[in-house]
Amino acid sequence: MATPAAELDLPEIGFDEGTFEQRMAMRAALPQDTWLVRNLIGYGVLRYEDAVGILRDKRWHSASARIPELMGITRADFLARQRGSILSTEGDEHVRLRRLVAPAFNPRAADRLRPFMRDVMNSLIDPVAATGRADFVADITEPYPIPIICELLGAPKSDWQLFSRLATDILEVFSADLADKIDLVMNAQDEMDAYTRELIAERRSKPADDLLTDLIAAEEAGDKLTNDELVMMVNAVIVAGTDTTRNQLGCAVAMFAQHPEQWALLAERPELAGRAVEESMRYFGAVRGTARFASCDIEYRDVVFPPGTFMSIGIADANRQGDVFPDPDTFDITKPASEQPQLTFGSGIHYCLGASLARAELQEALPLLAQRMPNLRIDGEITWKPDGVGIFGPAHMPIAFGPS
Ligand code: HEM
Repeated sequence: MATPAAELDLPEIGFDEGTFEQRMAMRAALPQDTWLVRNLIGYGVLRYEDAVGILRDKRWHSASARIPELMGITRADFLARQRGSILSTEGDEHVRLRRLVAPAFNPRAADRLRPFMRDVMNSLIDPVAATGRADFVADITEPYPIPIICELLGAPKSDWQLFSRLATDILEVFSADLADKIDLVMNAQDEMDAYTRELIAERRSKPADDLLTDLIAAEEAGDKLTNDELVMMVNAVIVAGTDTTRNQLGCAVAMFAQHPEQWALLAERPELAGRAVEESMRYFGAVRGTARFASCDIEYRDVVFPPGTFMSIGIADANRQGDVFPDPDTFDITKPASEQPQLTFGSGIHYCLGASLARAELQEALPLLAQRMPNLRIDGEITWKPDGVGIFGPAHMPIAFGPS
């Protein structure tokens, strides 16, 4: 007989208390058979098999559109907009969207941008190379993804500044004081939508070699994306693909700064880039958790969760599980790949649509940085972003490097 979750005696664990290391230590101290904990939003799972089990179970729905509500936001037009995103669509509607858009995000599409990614990264390193000092966040990670997204979508170079300004305002959707910034976010989204509609009209008459053209052409059994869906996808790419990539690059380089021998090795052997990305994302991911809610009564491992129950998925915890990743607390880019993937791109139907692009961006950036910033060290103190449910990474990271 399954037990209602509310009747279980469970350990309580906050996901925003103390530092990451303190929380990892707290979780490591839990009894071996603990698979479920209670937390601020409801419940949480910490083990790899449960994280994957829940992310692949379609009865658990994405909570991304519910997070603003949990933060006390009530504006109907704002909430409706979040619900329309691919990130929070479920069921047949989600299956249809993924089928239509997935081919445009394939690895080949990401590969065609690799030379451009190297050009962007070189142009960011050039101005700081002479001094051997930089704020890695302001100088490198912040500006890196926007030109790539612009190039991906096919936005002309003359519009990059406008695009960057709008994207910056749209990304305030992740800020802790979102309630005070709703107008800013909505206005930027409206402006970006109008901009996207013009770009779509242009591409419909003049196709080009870019994502927007591919999405316009995407068709399955006579079905096509509507203009509104195309606009939504551009928004989703900005919201899901910019801050994630920046912060993952910052997290990775912060780790390499603590492991100078690995940094030197990557410079010497750029073919390790693929492993370097997976190991950085496993060991120190910028997305440390996500959330789901129960769409119906769900029985899982003999526990019943009533509809509406929130569940946090401990991605960072699962990524450090010893029986999945041998020697999990060592950062080592020469370790053979584990049989199971790291979970920082998620799992199941909402698995990161931009994973090939993000991998390419990081695989191009890291070896280039290792070669052009030898002997990289932290030159002061790293200021970290608040470590809660959102995207985690450095806010400021003073670095010094060279000579080789
Ligand atoms: C290192 C960088 C990135 C990380 C760590 C990351 C992580 C994730 C994760 C964990 C999810 C699933 C969320 C959930 O299940 O609740 C996701 C979904 C998604 N990501 Fe990424 N992402 C990254 C880069 C990108 C890029 C570059 C793009 C686009 C170009 C992108 C587009 C998306 C989209 C559209 C979804 C929603 C997919 C769906 O709901 O079906 N991501 N990402």
